Amino acid sequence: MSFLRFILAILFLVSIFGVSNAHYKLSPTFYAFTCPNVIHVVRDVMEQIQRRDVRAGAKIIRLHFHDCFVNGCDGSVLLDNATGIISEKDANPNVGIGGSDIVDEIKTALENVCPGVVSCADILALASEIGVVLAGGPSWLVPLGRRDGLTANRSGANTDIPSPTETLDVMIPQFTRKGLGLTDLVALSGAHTFGRARCRTFNQRLFNFNGTGRPDPTLDPNYLQTLRRLCPQGGNGGTFAKLDKSTPDQFDNHYFTNLKNHQGLLQTDQELFSTSGSSTIGIVNNYANNQYKFFDDFVCSMIKMGNVGVLTGTKGEIRKDCKRVN
Ligand code: HEM
Ligand SMILES: *[C@@H]1O[C@H](CO)[C@@H](O)[C@H](O)[C@H]1NC(C)=O
Ligand SMILES: *[C@@H]1O[C@H](CO)[C@@H](O)[C@H](O)[C@H]1NC(C)=O
Ligand SMILES: *[C@@H]1O[C@H](CO)[C@@H](O)[C@H](O)[C@H]1NC(C)=O
Repeated sequence: MSFLRFILAILFLVSIFGVSNAHYKLSPTFYAFTCPNVIHVVRDVMEQIQRRDVRAGAKIIRLHFHDCFVNGCDGSVLLDNATGIISEKDANPNVGIGGSDIVDEIKTALENVCPGVVSCADILALASEIGVVLAGGPSWLVPLGRRDGLTANRSGANTDIPSPTETLDVMIPQFTRKGLGLTDLVALSGAHTFGRARCRTFNQRLFNFNGTGRPDPTLDPNYLQTLRRLCPQGGNGGTFAKLDKSTPDQFDNHYFTNLKNHQGLLQTDQELFSTSGSSTIGIVNNYANNQYKFFDDFVCSMIKMGNVGVLTGTKGEIRKDCKRVN
């Protein structure tokens, strides 16, 4: 083979590889021809639901996070029990998780205009962005083209999603395993700028922290009193508290100013600021001082999280009903 032919053959192989590779990358215009109105349809449904449920966006973005952390962003969190499917909904971090009904409403609206085209995993990614925007947060072009998985992984949900009583040194590797670094951990935790958490997810901080017989020393004393009234010892486990006490339904950087004031709700929230020597402290300060910086980093980290373990091309399927495989 002549040198020229050899070079041409290499270029040919590179181009094939490049094209097929591009084909399997997520893209904001993935549905441009197959479902051009996808964004409007999802936005309409989200706006309607938001009017009766202020937590709609919070519920959806949490579902997206719990989806991406278990077998990648493949809609596995949405599957109900069935033959061969052990639902992730019964995993500890998912007990009582909301938002599946919202996904179903969006899916129904999409099936009416472009049946069998838009995946449930993409619905979670797209509706998350819309929910953030509706709450006053940043907007971004959401990469699309995920396909839905054929399995659920309940044990994966129990091991891979951080629990709210974790210390920072446990949380960091849980994020690293998904390809997410310290900045991603802090920026994404900023999603706790809206939504609610039940007393049982943080009440160990209020009376007997870590077996000390005392409250969590990193908790502001006045905030501690407020939380004790809402969540008395041994009671009200199902009562909801605001994750961001100052602007509970707004997507802003007050989550980070709360942390600086020792008024983070979950132990895992406050850990980001109170773990001495940790480089997360600088990031929290940065976001508390500069909401633009938080918004920029949050968008980057959301896109990164939305790429974790995605199924593309001919892998998986496009579910007709997000609760079950076709
Ligand atoms: C860093 C580790 C994280 C931990 C330990 C954690 C833990 C929790 C817990 C315990 C709750 C309350 C659940 C309940 O009451 O049953 C919650 C709520 C929530 N989480 Fe997280 N979370 C983390 C990261 C994230 C991330 C990365 C996002 C999104 C990007 C997120 C978004 C939310 C939202 C929006 C809510 C409120 C949901 C609602 O109102 O229904 N969280 N989280
Ligand atoms: C789903 O199946 C698991 C395992 O068989 C069971 O423990 C769980 O209670 C079931 N959940 C529902 C909602 O039926
Ligand atoms: C479930 O998740 C765990 C933890 O990430 C992983 O090790 C395991 O391979 C997963 N199982 C399946 C069947 O995907
Ligand atoms: C709880 O106590 C154990 C053992 O004393 C210690 O290793 C751990 O760091 C403590 N956790 C917190 C959050 O302080």
